[in-house]
Amino acid sequence: MRDAYIVTSIRTPGCKRGKGAFKDTLPEDLLAFILDAAVRQTPGLEKKDVEDIMIGCAFPEAEQGLNIGRICAQIAGFPDSTSGATVNRFCSSGLEAIALSALRIMAGWSDVVIGGGVESMTFVPMGGNMPRPHPVYTREHADLYASMGITAENVARRYDISRQAQDEFACHSQMKAAGAREKGRFTEIVPTPATSYVIQPDGTMKRETFVQDFDDGIRPETTIEALSKLRPVFAANGSVTAGNSSQTTDGAAATVLMSKDKVEELGLEPVARLRLYTTVGVKADEMGVGPRYAIPRLLDMAGLTIDDIGLWEINEAFASQALYCIRELGLEKYMDRINVNGGAIALGHPLGCTGAKLCATLLANMRAKGVKYGVESMCIGGGMGAAALFELCE
Ligand SMILES: CC(C)(COP(=O)(O)OP(=O)(O)OC[C@H]1O[C@@H](n2cnc3c(N)ncnc32)[C@H](O)[C@@H]1OP(=O)(O)O)[C@@H](O)C(=O)NCCC(=O)NCCS
Repeated sequence: MRDAYIVTSIRTPGCKRGKGAFKDTLPEDLLAFILDAAVRQTPGLEKKDVEDIMIGCAFPEAEQGLNIGRICAQIAGFPDSTSGATVNRFCSSGLEAIALSALRIMAGWSDVVIGGGVESMTFVPMGGNMPRPHPVYTREHADLYASMGITAENVARRYDISRQAQDEFACHSQMKAAGAREKGRFTEIVPTPATSYVIQPDGTMKRETFVQDFDDGIRPETTIEALSKLRPVFAANGSVTAGNSSQTTDGAAATVLMSKDKVEELGLEPVARLRLYTTVGVKADEMGVGPRYAIPRLLDMAGLTIDDIGLWEINEAFASQALYCIRELGLEKYMDRINVNGGAIALGHPLGCTGAKLCATLLANMRAKGVKYGVESMCIGGGMGAAALFELCE
């Protein structure tokens, strides 16, 4: 098998669903912009060199439907010869798309592929616009369609993750994110055009554009005391709140992958190799435990241990499940290596984009800190976990 090199990995900011900077920006525009930017940021690369574009999207319908991967390749000005696909594994869709792109290169089937993700949770809400659970199967297995918040409550209750621990974790995520934003550490963000509709004096609306260059869900003023006062949102006597859950978010991300031959032809310095990717299945009603099983499988495949991993991006779908996984994996001693710029509690979780977003963040941090091995992992709705190992290029 050949190696799959990552030469560029970038993202738009993540902005709050319904009230953030991208609330009036179509997902197609976010994705087409970041695909174009990925090519522009890769010296020597031309759009005609890109053979395929694989895009993760968790709810590929309405504006995100009709194979948004191919549609946005065309909107972004790639030639007809660049094919496009949409990939869905819910919360790991963006990482799945990058892994599939890498496999194409590793197998020798392609030399340049872009993997990425997009989700506008404003335009297409979680669950989709028209959910249709199987009418007979649902009676016996409603868990498969359960609210993600209920699964987070199940993890907290079954595995004894206290409300206080969840709030402390959430506050820490907010503090790390606020500090990283202030210090300019989100180098993987590309300032992105956003649309707004402004009411004119005559009562008509005018479409205007502005540039958004930061994640707008971060709350630097967060305190544990304020978090502790929030009411549970998913269960009356529960512990999962708006403050210790991931935010619902709009965003897009893209990663350019190449064979060694193409890297040498263009004279590029690759950032990292995608070494391994794996997925596991777990019980649907506690889907948040996914990383606790995916990560050991990944490390076994690689012949590594947790001590070898310099940086982790473990998606904070909910504080309860992130804390459970960290505890069970023995990662508590490495808290300073996990989500160093904050996680989805502060930065948002744009579902199908998240896997590609976290890849961009992880690689930016691995490069900045000179870390050899980084792992990205997340839980996945329906009861799954995914994990990927990246190795920095010397
Ligand atoms: C939990 C959830 C329903 C909350 O949605 P929301 O009401 O839009 O959440 P918001 O971020 O707007 O917060 C609501 C309120 O909580 C309070 N709040 C949230 N975070 C806070 C913080 N860090 N400190 C203090 N108050 C906070 C505020 O009062 C806020 O209202 P405001 O923005 O007007 O000040 C939503 O974020 C959600 O569904 N998350 C999980 C998504 C999911 O399941 N993803 C898939 C995972 S597998």
